[in-house]
Amino acid sequence: MIDRVVPLLYLTAAVSFILALKWLSAVPTARRGVIVGAAGMALAVIGTLLKPEIASYRWIAVALVAGTAIGIPMALMPMTAVPQRTALSHAFGALAAALVGTAEYYLRAPAIDRFTMGALSLEVLLGFLTFTASLMAFGKLQEILPTRPVTYRHQNIFNLSLFVLAASAGVYLVIRPEAAWLFPVFGVLALVFGVLLIIPIGGADMPTVISLLNSYAGLSAAAMGFVLNNKLLIIAGSLDGSSGLILSVIMCRSMNRSFGNVLFGAFGQVQATPAAETRAVRSATPEEAAGILQVAGKVIVVPGYGMAVAQAQHKVRELYDVLTKAGVSVTFAIHPVAGRMPGHMNVLLAEADIPYDRLAEMEDVNSDFPQADVALIIGANDVTNPAARHDRNSPIYGMPILDADKARTVMVIKRSMSPGFAGIDNELYYMDRTLMVFGDAKTVVGHLVRELAGGSGHA
Ligand code: TAP
Repeated sequence: MIDRVVPLLYLTAAVSFILALKWLSAVPTARRGVIVGAAGMALAVIGTLLKPEIASYRWIAVALVAGTAIGIPMALMPMTAVPQRTALSHAFGALAAALVGTAEYYLRAPAIDRFTMGALSLEVLLGFLTFTASLMAFGKLQEILPTRPVTYRHQNIFNLSLFVLAASAGVYLVIRPEAAWLFPVFGVLALVFGVLLIIPIGGADMPTVISLLNSYAGLSAAAMGFVLNNKLLIIAGSLDGSSGLILSVIMCRSMNRSFGNVLFGAFGQVQATPAAETRAVRSATPEEAAGILQVAGKVIVVPGYGMAVAQAQHKVRELYDVLTKAGVSVTFAIHPVAGRMPGHMNVLLAEADIPYDRLAEMEDVNSDFPQADVALIIGANDVTNPAARHDRNSPIYGMPILDADKARTVMVIKRSMSPGFAGIDNELYYMDRTLMVFGDAKTVVGHLVRELAGGSGHA
């Protein structure tokens, strides 16, 4: 009976994972995707727990309690901490895969066939390196570790040599599985490589790196599937591995950067000592800004990382309501890498119940900016910097941007003249038709809402 139930549960789980990924790729169906993915995982766990090979449930129960105790506080972390939370969950997943591989080696070697040993080596190598690399990524994002890239001479050659050494140890173990002395050395090399891989990468590049580590953890789990002869692990690991890779490619493309540049480019290291900016900017009070918005016909809102930091999305919703009520057409322009994680702005705006059909992708909205009366930039910076179009020396040269500078009036809500993620000045702020409204995004937008709600309506 169990023999028939388990494959059925596994099959349903595999289909759920595939549907979950499909649904997760569009905002309106994303919630369904999460629920179906979680339900699929529950079926996979139940199926595994039903397996007759399980000798005792005692340690499984202990692990379940420990996992729940760690998982619940992690799930309650704020939205802005999602990248580091993801890094931690990859660390745990990868460690689990590496430990299972280690246990299997000591249980089965040397009586282990070459194919299984090959899969086991891959599982352990990727598992251990992803574990330490993900912990490092977590430390950088949480600012427990220095966020700047730490580099030294011949670093890339050193790292590559270490990786080749670790991989060679893995290959040697495939040929001579009885070389038990080498196994701990192999594990340590992988652990050390994970640390060294992340040291030269700046904190700001961590979201892309995490997505790449996601793919390594997935591949490690798929390899584990071959070791344990578990088809569901092979399917889930491959889905995880490929989706992580695709996501990193999308992120790199949206920043117009290569994988090599993200991994080995030490981006963010040279903080070109900014020649103290002497050019003047025009600033406006929230009252003045509200006066301009009140008479606008078309407003395009450009949300960015600052909106997330300020948790201003609910105030932005109020602003949307008050403007639409006054007859102003409001659209939200979403840059693919606005914020610090994929879909960051979509998630926040959805949380505030802003209708999906008001959100427009960069390619679709860019042609609308010249007709917009106001481009209202809320905590966004790099994704609007025109230097990306023409300044070959700019670190963001070539990154596609939102054409906010083409609107009739540009309003920028941010706290100061500080740069964003790329650490560079934004020439948009010095244009004649740009107004800087300095202050915390939530406070300023709240102020705008009060002014507009008390105002006389659309002219
Ligand atoms: P950023 O260029 O990082 O600029 C954010 C701006 O928000 C800052 O200039 C900051 O200025 C302002 N800010 C911070 N806290 C604020 C607050 N409480 N209230 C108001 N403003 C506040 O953000 P962006 O335009 O969204 O661009 C994202 C950047 O991250 C891009 O360079 C992108 O390549 C990079 N990146 C994104 C991702 C993904 S997947 N989204 C992944 C890796 C890297 P003040 O300090 O003056 O307030």
